[in-house]
Amino acid sequence: MKKIIIDCDPGIDDSLAIMLALQSPELEVIGITIVAGNSPAELGFQNAKRVLNFLGRLDVPVYVGADRPRVREYVNALDTHGCDGLGESFLPEVPGQEIPEKSAVEFMRETLKGGDVSVIALGPLTNLADLIDADILAFLSIERLVSMGGNFRSHGNCSPVAEYNYWEDPDSAKVVFDTLYAHHKMIEMVGLDVTREIVLTPEKLEDIKARNAVVGDFIEKITKFYFKFHWEWEHIRGCVINDPLAVAQFICPNILDGIEAFTEVETGGISMGQTVVDSMGFYRKESNALVFTNVDVEAFWELFLTRILEIGEEK
Ligand code: BDR
Ligand code: CA
Repeated sequence: MKKIIIDCDPGIDDSLAIMLALQSPELEVIGITIVAGNSPAELGFQNAKRVLNFLGRLDVPVYVGADRPRVREYVNALDTHGCDGLGESFLPEVPGQEIPEKSAVEFMRETLKGGDVSVIALGPLTNLADLIDADILAFLSIERLVSMGGNFRSHGNCSPVAEYNYWEDPDSAKVVFDTLYAHHKMIEMVGLDVTREIVLTPEKLEDIKARNAVVGDFIEKITKFYFKFHWEWEHIRGCVINDPLAVAQFICPNILDGIEAFTEVETGGISMGQTVVDSMGFYRKESNALVFTNVDVEAFWELFLTRILEIGEEK
């Protein structure tokens, strides 16, 4: 069992990623940390609790981190995720859940030092950049860092060249990539090149509903809005679920394949948030990123569905 912290901004697909992680026997989720991203941080906290409540896992602690990006103004993604951040499912708030005094960064500081904890980051990298400022040794102790974010050959989803998580806080993303470079470490970058392939179609959803009605209803409630958004913006039937692929990459080494390259994040101008991946080695710099370019879509669904459909079953 590998210990992980999920740093996220739930978020529809973050919620599906949390579900996958908590259903995976290979993982021990020691905590969830919230960053402002899709949802403002406080709403992200409540949404994480809603998902944990659905899973009967309110024992997993949730901490709140940054409520805005490092430099630029905060732009949430509630246009994509619905005004409640969970697809306008309007699930009731879980009673008696208060934001702990301990911050996300404090929690990371005290848990990461042992060197046996990994981080799966599913939102902007603000909490991790804050951790670098607060305690770089704790950051460098992260066993594996998997991040959903960025793009290489694929177009962006917030601009022609930028993906939301890195576009929302490019300055933090740059700090994280630069720090990894300076210390000869790597990030596993699960970007749009591969996540765009993961489409929850209406047929897949019907199948889930037929095989586990409780899970299917929950997923339908939180994705309905996302379906509409994808149809209106991209003419995709269904919705792209980005974040669970990062969890799948952590669990299973055969789903994604890619290249190692030096990568830097652009922080301003027309290409703000773009990940510049030096796949040809122009800069002659050591790789700081494993950038995924190919995905075994069937293997992902096999893993995801097997795990998700077991929710509610006796172990
Ligand atoms: C990323 O941004 C959010 O909309 C998703 O939760 C995902 O983490 C995709 O660009
Ligand atoms: Ca996310």
